[in-house]
Amino acid sequence: MTSASLFFPLKIGPYSLQHRVVMAPLTRMRAGAGNVPNEMAPTYYGQRASAGGLIIAEAAQVTPYGQGYPQTPGIHTPEQVAGWRAVTDAVHAKGGLIFLQLWHVGRSSHSSLLPGGALPVAPSAIAIKTEKSFTPDWESVPYETPRALALSDMPGIVEAYRIGARNALAAGFDGVEVHGANGYLLEQFLHDSSNKRTDAYGGPIENRARLLLEVTAAITHVWGADRVGVRLSPFGTFNDVGDSDPVSLYKYVFTELAHLDVAYLSLIEARGADGTRLGEPGAVDQLHPYWPKPLILAGGFDGASANQAIAEGRADAIAFGRHFIANPDLPGRLQAKVPLNEYNRETFYGGGAAGYVDYPSLGLAVTPDLPTAVQSR
Ligand code: FNR
Repeated sequence: MTSASLFFPLKIGPYSLQHRVVMAPLTRMRAGAGNVPNEMAPTYYGQRASAGGLIIAEAAQVTPYGQGYPQTPGIHTPEQVAGWRAVTDAVHAKGGLIFLQLWHVGRSSHSSLLPGGALPVAPSAIAIKTEKSFTPDWESVPYETPRALALSDMPGIVEAYRIGARNALAAGFDGVEVHGANGYLLEQFLHDSSNKRTDAYGGPIENRARLLLEVTAAITHVWGADRVGVRLSPFGTFNDVGDSDPVSLYKYVFTELAHLDVAYLSLIEARGADGTRLGEPGAVDQLHPYWPKPLILAGGFDGASANQAIAEGRADAIAFGRHFIANPDLPGRLQAKVPLNEYNRETFYGGGAAGYVDYPSLGLAVTPDLPTAVQSR
């Protein structure tokens, strides 16, 4: 039997992907006034859309209190919804699929970014020490000690995600992804280094996972579970998170997300420059048995290692980040095995067209390896 490749079709929820080269969510910090996606965003995403290809749009804050960096787009105002509608139209015009990643950064923020100069919120009043925060003027400053959320605040957090999910539906997305990775609010609750609560949202694993599961359940009520994915970084320590027993924690989380029947899990694993922050390469594999549906893996993949991961059954699809920034036609290039454009880190965050919509495309399209069979696991 031929083993699966990046160019086998894949069913995710109701969607038939024509290949497995997913565009990872990528914060570009180029939103305009009111945190509305800028006028180049439809071009940027449209360039990266492919027939039957899946894009996860950059993280969008579900509330102004969930913003963590200058010029990140939101999904909490009508103007933002209209801005995203132009993006989803551009992707759909090319036959592509696009999910929006829903974001609340929690303590990874700064009062200068938040309405009324409010303090960032977190499970516990513990500041991030190993990273720096940004002001709206892109000044790098130390993180402040956040305000620990009161028990009475928790329904409002879940409601913010629900409204964000509803707005994403209005903006024409095909689904949404819960950002449960990279040290932001939901992971701050999951991990015992950042969550010292003694109420129903802290302590035992079941309590620390409660917010992620409540948020995900609320979103599935808006979208249906088959159009909702969840992104996690089980061994991540970025933004000063980390858990004393990640395997037990994520066995529980995977099992509960399987009960919620969400469409896919997206995991970030240890590879690439920041690999040391995400555990040993392959560490996530021990958790795979607890997840029965499509698994998307990310972290330092190239075409060969991606095909290998899929052939070995480690993943069903691969999310590419940095290579997708620099290669609008990445799926076609990987299939044709032609050289990739190099990415320029200097233009990842902020700025204008340079490094955003000016990477050259060869116009290469993908031909699915098995055009008639839709593979699923
Ligand atoms: C990211 N990453 C990221 N992850 C996420 O879940 N939401 C996001 O908004 C972002 N933003 C972001 C911006 C930039 C500029 C980079 C480089 C990365 C992580 C990203 O999705 C991916 O997991 C990593 O980049 C690893 O994959 P690659 O780049 O090695 O293919």
